Order: sequence, then C-alpha cells, then structure tokens
Amino acid sequence: MLIDILTLFPEMFDAVLGTSIPKRAAEKGLVSYHLTNIRDFATDAHKSVDDKSFGGGPGMVMLCQSVFDAVESVERQDYAKSVRILLTPQGRLFDQSVAEELAAMDRLLLIAGHYEGFDDRIVQGLKPMELSIGDYVLSGGELAAMVVVDAVVRLLPGALGAEDGAADESFADGLLEYPQYTRPREFRGMTVPEVLLGGNHAEIAKWRLEQRKQRTKQRRPDLWRAYLQKRSDGLADK
Ligand code: ADE
Repeated sequence: MLIDILTLFPEMFDAVLGTSIPKRAAEKGLVSYHLTNIRDFATDAHKSVDDKSFGGGPGMVMLCQSVFDAVESVERQDYAKSVRILLTPQGRLFDQSVAEELAAMDRLLLIAGHYEGFDDRIVQGLKPMELSIGDYVLSGGELAAMVVVDAVVRLLPGALGAEDGAADESFADGLLEYPQYTRPREFRGMTVPEVLLGGNHAEIAKWRLEQRKQRTKQRRPDLWRAYLQKRSDGLADK
C-alpha cells in the first residue's frame, strides 16, 4: 500500500509513522508513506495557502489552488489510482468497518487541512471521501489522518506480530474486548478470575465471550443494539 499525506505540517507525522506498528509495517515493505507539504504548491510571494472567508466571519479558509495542485502533482508520481480522503469534522464517522474498507485499497491519499476549513470547491472538484474521527473539533486534520493511518496499517496482512495479533479482536464482531490479566496472580489484594488459571480452554472462551457481552451492554448500548440486530438478521437469513 502507498499512503500519500498532504499537509502543512509534515513534521507532525514523524513520531507516529516512525514508531511501533506503523514503522514496522513500512520496514517489512507492507506500506510506504509519502509526505507532501501543501505550502510547496503556493504560487505567490508570501506562499499563501489560505485567506479570509467570502461573506465574512472568523478564521481562514484553505485556498483551492495549492490543494488541487498538490493532489494532482502527487497523483502523477505513481500509477496506482488513489482513494482521496479529506479529514474534516463534516465527514462520515471513521470506525473499524471504514478502516477495513480502506485496508483493502492499493493507495490512499489523505488531505489534512489546518485553519478553519477548506474552500468548498475542494470537495466539489476533488470529490474526496470525507472522514471525521469524532464529534469534536481539532486544530487541524493531521491528528485525524494519523488515527486513520494507524487503524488501517495494523490491518494489513503481516503488520501485527504473533504477540499482538489478538489485539485486533475487539470490534471485529462488534463487541468490546474482554478483561485481561498477567502476572502476578494477586496485586494489592486484587486477584485474577479463577477460570483463567484453570487451563480449561472451553470454559475460558465461554467466560471471555460473556464478559465481552456484559461490557458492551453496560458501556456501549449503541454497539450492543447493533450486535443484537446483526445476530437477529443473521438468524433470519437461515
Ligand atoms: N479536523 C478537525 N477536526 C476533525 C475531526 N474531528 N475529524 C477529522 N478531521 C478533523
């Protein structure tokens, strides 16, 4: 997979892409990251990438020209067709199913904007998939782009080692993760549930599934309803 990232702050990505699973995935050749500074495509003497909003109002708006030129220049550098993604609080909510969709693509092109927003013709003209990572406003799309990259890259076959492979269980079937314990068996008076120490794998699996259901029901009634709905649809199909 090739991941292009267009941003005004490429240096923000160094730590995330250079650490842990995103770094190892690149070292294994599963993914390569290509960062482009949108400001390199500014054409005026001041290297402007934004301006005041027509009609007034606070904040600056990203100009069409530098974003269009950056996208078109970057896309010409590789034959693979890219899925254009714009990070914005107006977008579709990013979740595990979107991450799975994106993990099947050959090339992603993420556009992270700073300032108050984008000229709307960037959306009209480039027709990107608009993604939001949650109902809150960040200072820019960079952190959102990093969230998307991390969630997608860890799904690439081979990205997770054997020791962290189990970590992708949560959400795969719509339930939260079960509680986990490691040594010691007792810590400050808190003990590990007996069933986990007995070595009966069927009992352990049963206990874990029950814990996942309880947690989901209590903490995320929205996910619980979706899980029950999916199960009743599945039963109705049979
Ligand atoms: N840019 C600013 N806030 C954002 C959010 N919540 N998701 C995606 N991009 C953003």
